[in-house]
Amino acid sequence: MMTTLLKSAASVLEKNWKNGFTIPCEGLYPFQWNWDSGFIAIGWAHLNIENAKAEIRSLLKGQWKNGFLPHIAFHNEATSYYPGPEVHATHISSNSPSIKTSGITQPPVLGFVLEELLHIANDKEDALAFIKSVYKQVFLNHHYFYTSRDPKGEGLVYICHNWEAGTDNTPVWDFVWDTFDVPNYKLQRKDTTHIDASHRPTNREYQYYIHLIELFKEWKYDDRMIAQNSPFLIQDPLFNSMLIASNNALIRMGELLGFHPQVEKLKGWNEMAKKNMNEKLFDSNLNAYVYYDLRNERSYHHISSSSFAPLFAGVPSSERAKSLVGHFQEGRFSGVKNENFLCASFDPTSSLFNSKKYWRGPIWINLNWIIYRGLSQYGFTKEASLIKNDTLYLIEKYGFYEYFEPSKKINETADKGYGGNNFSWSAALTIDLLINNKYK
Ligand code: SER
Repeated sequence: MMTTLLKSAASVLEKNWKNGFTIPCEGLYPFQWNWDSGFIAIGWAHLNIENAKAEIRSLLKGQWKNGFLPHIAFHNEATSYYPGPEVHATHISSNSPSIKTSGITQPPVLGFVLEELLHIANDKEDALAFIKSVYKQVFLNHHYFYTSRDPKGEGLVYICHNWEAGTDNTPVWDFVWDTFDVPNYKLQRKDTTHIDASHRPTNREYQYYIHLIELFKEWKYDDRMIAQNSPFLIQDPLFNSMLIASNNALIRMGELLGFHPQVEKLKGWNEMAKKNMNEKLFDSNLNAYVYYDLRNERSYHHISSSSFAPLFAGVPSSERAKSLVGHFQEGRFSGVKNENFLCASFDPTSSLFNSKKYWRGPIWINLNWIIYRGLSQYGFTKEASLIKNDTLYLIEKYGFYEYFEPSKKINETADKGYGGNNFSWSAALTIDLLINNKYK
């Protein structure tokens, strides 16, 4: 029997369904987004596996000839979002597909999403046949990352735009913006007509976001030009963790399906990725995974929710995992008196933390789901229940908002979450938290 919460989560997905794919949020994000669709497909798999399969097929329609998978697929027309297809202008790349897309990517979640579908599906044979039909496309995406975005052959791929991180305006990027100047573009922002501007990135930050796209267009989205010249070139712990988690899943599924040459390749990349993530991206003073800037050859010593994503990818040793978990009870993220809900998107003890502003502090449901799964996999059942209960508490109290306030005190008198409402991945992952028996 469906509980009330489950019913309202399902109705969010149904309302945002556009005959073949799901928009993240009416008005605010009116197209198909890459990693959103991955999480959304997990929710659909519990309700209607055909929609989950269609979601993934639609996303893959935007794949470029070199394997690149864009962060937005513009299947439909909409005027409520900036920057739209005319700004990205990806037809200038010889790799772009027949449909309009953006020319930057997002964290590669499809590999592990396919494995989630297999676990959730009642008809395993049908799910495997579906996975078999898309496996090579997803593999090609991983091949693209390790052959076009890993200039030093470290198994750690770079992102060249803050929107590729998923964590658009994390304070970590402030330090990157400090390293170069940008012209003054005429912005046509629409997001601040939908949402309180104080909860969104600033106009100054948007100048950088648009400038990077202008540079990529000048270089016709050529990966070699980008690797050589982009002022933003970051090895990000969340992005690489999503890629490793997807490698892990593609290896397991590839073995089942007999994709042996692909599995061998994936194993090679994955081994190097895990080793170098542990060696290069771990900061032992902070006890967390951090960011490396390839353009300026320096690390950024800041903790965000991305710092915990390696748990989900099985990267840390159990000893290291234990030190990460220390941040969750009487620690940096929980607060020494556990005064915060888990898990803020940026270090709550930092002067750069802002509990209301997008990725500078608020709680996001997809990161909570990733961390919850990571904690469960390592056997930290107490901390896993804590983050799951905090997530469901916030959703039950306010609804399916885009992001939420971490401070328990502020939540005592608040009556809303932040950002867009009826946000698809908040609904989709709530469905999974409520009914996925594998992780009870
Ligand atoms: N999240 C970005 C935005 O806010 C796009 O990926 O527009």
